[in-house]
This record gives sequence, C-alpha cells and structure tokens, in this order.
Amino acid sequence: MVSESKLDQVTVIGAGVLGGQIAWQSAYKGKRVVLYDPFEESLEKSRVARQTYAHIYQNELGASAPEIEKTHARLEETTDFQAAIAEADLVIEAVPEVPEIKVELYQKLGACLSAGCLIATNSSTLLPSQFAKDTGRPEKFCALHFANMIWSLNLAEIMAHESTAPETLRRVTAFAIEIGMVPIPVQKEQSGYVCNSLLVPILVAAQSLVTNGVAVPEVVDRTYMIFNRGCSMGPCGIMDVIGFTTVVNVFRYWGEKSGDQQMLKNADYLQKHFIDQGKLGLLSGGGYYQYPHPIYQSADFLSVPDVAAAGEIAALIHRV
Ligand SMILES: NC(=O)c1ccc[n+]([C@@H]2O[C@H](COP(=O)([O-])OP(=O)(O)OC[C@H]3O[C@@H](n4cnc5c(N)ncnc54)[C@H](O)[C@@H]3O)[C@@H](O)[C@H]2O)c1
Repeated sequence: MVSESKLDQVTVIGAGVLGGQIAWQSAYKGKRVVLYDPFEESLEKSRVARQTYAHIYQNELGASAPEIEKTHARLEETTDFQAAIAEADLVIEAVPEVPEIKVELYQKLGACLSAGCLIATNSSTLLPSQFAKDTGRPEKFCALHFANMIWSLNLAEIMAHESTAPETLRRVTAFAIEIGMVPIPVQKEQSGYVCNSLLVPILVAAQSLVTNGVAVPEVVDRTYMIFNRGCSMGPCGIMDVIGFTTVVNVFRYWGEKSGDQQMLKNADYLQKHFIDQGKLGLLSGGGYYQYPHPIYQSADFLSVPDVAAAGEIAALIHRV
C-alpha cells in the first residue's frame, strides 16, 4: 500500500546515534529502510544499538516479538553507497555535524539519486540553505530534525530554505506523522530549530559550570531537576544521551564561529575527560553517569539528604 507521503523506501545516511534510531523507528512503523555508512565499524556498533532499541521497544512501548522481527526484516544495512540509494524515495542525512562532510555527501548524492527522490537533513545546528545548492535539487530538500531517544521524544522539526517546494514540505510532514512523530513546523530558518534553541544554551551553561569548577555534574543536574520537577534527567545526563562526539562538534563549531572561548574550553574539557578516554556517552563507554542505572534515576536523588551527609556536602564548597 502506498502511503500519503509516497515516501516508503527510505535511505538513512550515517549509522551513528541518530541515524540508527531514525532507521529503526521508520522500519518499526512499516517503512522499508536502508541504513548506509562507509565504515563497517559504525555499522557493527549500530547492530549492537539495534538490539538495545528492540529491547526498549518491547519493554517500554509494548512492541510484540513479531513486530520486532518485522522491524529487523525491513531494515537493511550496507557500506555500498550506490546500492543504498538506488531505490530511495527519501534520503535522510545523519552524518557528523561537520559542514565539509555534509557538502561532500550532498554533491555526491545529487549526482546519483533518482529524479524524484527527496532529501532531508537531520542536522541539529546547520541550516538547509547552507547545503541547498550542493544537493542539485533545492526544491526537494529541507530539514527534518529528530530528537535523540526518538521513541519517547517523538518530535520531528521541519524547516525549509527559501526554495523548498511546498509539496516537499507536505510530503515530509506526512512522512513524519506516518513514522509516529509529532511534526513541529518551524516558520523560518533558525539554527537549532525550536528544540535546540531551547536546549543548547542549557547545555552550554551546565557544561560551563562543570568546566569552570563551579559545581560538580550531579549537583548541576540535581538543581535543574528540582526546578523542573517531573523531568527525567538534567543537562549532564542529556549530554550522555546525545553522545559526546556530537556535543563537542556543536561546541567547537559554534565556539569558533562566534569566537566564544568558553564554548571552546567546554569542547576541550569533554574531549580530554571523555572522548580521549573512550567514553562517548550512554551508548558507548558511559559518560557523566554509569549505565544502565545512572544515579539520577535513584529514588533519593532529589531528596533532602540525611544530616550526617552535611560534612561531605560542605567539603565540595571551596572559598576562592
Ligand atoms: N546525537 C544527537 O542527539 C542528535 C540529535 C538530533 C540530530 N543530530 C544530528 O544528526 C547528525 C548525526 O549525529 P550523530 O549524533 O548521529 O553522529 P554520530 O557521530 O553518532 O554518527 C555519525 C555517523 O556518520 C558516519 N559517517 C561519517 N562520515 C560519513 C560519510 N561521509 N558518509 C556517511 N556516513 C558517514 C559515521 O561513521 C557515524 O556512524 C548530526 O548532524 C547531528 O547534528 C544528532
């Protein structure tokens, strides 16, 4: 059966944190999906992540065993670029947040895709107008931005550049709904859309407190979680979920672009304390917290502590 969007064969390019999730969610919702990555090692990691998603979908979303089996069956992985895109109705780009990598990919894609194929970027902070010409099909190109933990933060932000065709936006919005997302129409180009315009300043503020030795990560998160009662984690936990590769890319890119030295210090801090130690966040090696049971999920994380803990807590306070 052809769907409303007529976007039924999807190719996701980049099998990292987000690419893997987009591919899995699309396949779960009935799309035929090819997940492409030039590095076998990345596909290997995404196969491990796939098992995690299967587990989450069964345990948290109530997916049945046959549904999970069908999801696996609809999702192919490959390192063969031509084979990956040959039948695509829609290509979703989820390669690193590095403009040079994206430009090179769009130029290659533009030359090889079938004439009707749409392209969407999942870039968190870059604008579609930066890449529209490189795609060779600006009217068929827009941003379709998903959030990490796609199964529970089911937002899809849709943003055009000045020559995206209305029909492209209609079909991409229909696709987002078909794969279980709440579409968020962004009315003009804005780096960071709605979601990251809210989130990135919070992450920068939190990381600056840690980098500058003002407060330890747990204290930053506890503070945030108390004034946002009911939320499931604080900003350091969110950085673990996003993955440090992406967080560092964002801090470095915007730090250099805006000359913000604090952003660059934050990027260096995360590189040294996590990435160089092989800790990339929740899905690989852990990060600020140890998984699968991070301390911020414990029942007493936000409780008033026992008074016997006063000495230990006070020892964290240094007078400068
Ligand atoms: N991590 C998040 O929370 C998040 C959320 C929303 C959007 N995004 C965006 O999604 C994109 C990917 O982010 P990520 O966190 O998944 O990154 P990631 O580093 O986890 O994954 C990127 C993948 O791209 C692959 N890759 C590298 N060069 C490539 C190329 N030339 N062609 C194809 N694949 C290539 C890598 O092998 C890797 O598997 C970025 O634009 C990011 O801004 C990330």
